[in-house]
Amino acid sequence: STRTPTIGGNWKMNLHKAEAIELAAALAAKADDFAGVEVTVFPAFPYLIPVADALAPAGGKIKLGAQDAYITPNGAFTGEVSLSMIQDAGASVLLVGHSERRHVIGETDILVNDKVLAGLEAGLDVVLAIGETLEQRESGKTDAINTGQLGYGLAGVTAEQMKRITIAYEPVWAIGTGKTATPEDAQKAHSVIRQAVAFLYDQGIADAVRIQYGGSMKPGNAGDLLAQTDIDGGLIGGAALKPDDFAGIIAAAK
Ligand code: G3H
Repeated sequence: STRTPTIGGNWKMNLHKAEAIELAAALAAKADDFAGVEVTVFPAFPYLIPVADALAPAGGKIKLGAQDAYITPNGAFTGEVSLSMIQDAGASVLLVGHSERRHVIGETDILVNDKVLAGLEAGLDVVLAIGETLEQRESGKTDAINTGQLGYGLAGVTAEQMKRITIAYEPVWAIGTGKTATPEDAQKAHSVIRQAVAFLYDQGIADAVRIQYGGSMKPGNAGDLLAQTDIDGGLIGGAALKPDDFAGIIAAAK
């Protein structure tokens, strides 16, 4: 396809300052090898600034993202971090609706949608994560859950703003479990999601939007997943914490 592959490293609540800087510096040193692939890393909030500094030698070839942010510019929201704060810290990408935010922290589709809209309004690129749980898959609800989370997440997003949206399909049962969706199952879900984008917008927008797969993607299985027609990249957790594994997945995306 003409879609630029996109690989994200979601560091989740891992790595302290020295480790985060070391990983970012190792990736920055390899950045020339990543040509043709959009690469983004998502460190924990306290390390956005030192990671931005460590990525600087890559000259913008590796983007900086935040794993979450709150929708209000400032004010009495104890414990939250605003969109303008993450931007001030150097982030240009916002991850919204990760399954751990939905299922561990308890974010609703409405809050996810508010964050998507606020992130776009602030000028960020937004990665909207969706995906079904094992129970939902086993009861035949996979497509309904994914199209539902997609529709809620994108409510109010304009056609023009869709250029700054990436969708991350992450089957919850495959996250951090070592169980990967088969390339065929993942392709089927991605195809359904792309058709839903065509239904919500139009075929041109559906053909242009990137849909990443997430869930135990590793250098050894990335090639088969990324070879699927509708899989345009990956959102990587565990394997993004090691520079060689992450670089191996990026190489497989070329
Ligand atoms: O955001 C990343 C996904 O949750 C995948 O995590 O690669 O550790 O399964 P994982």
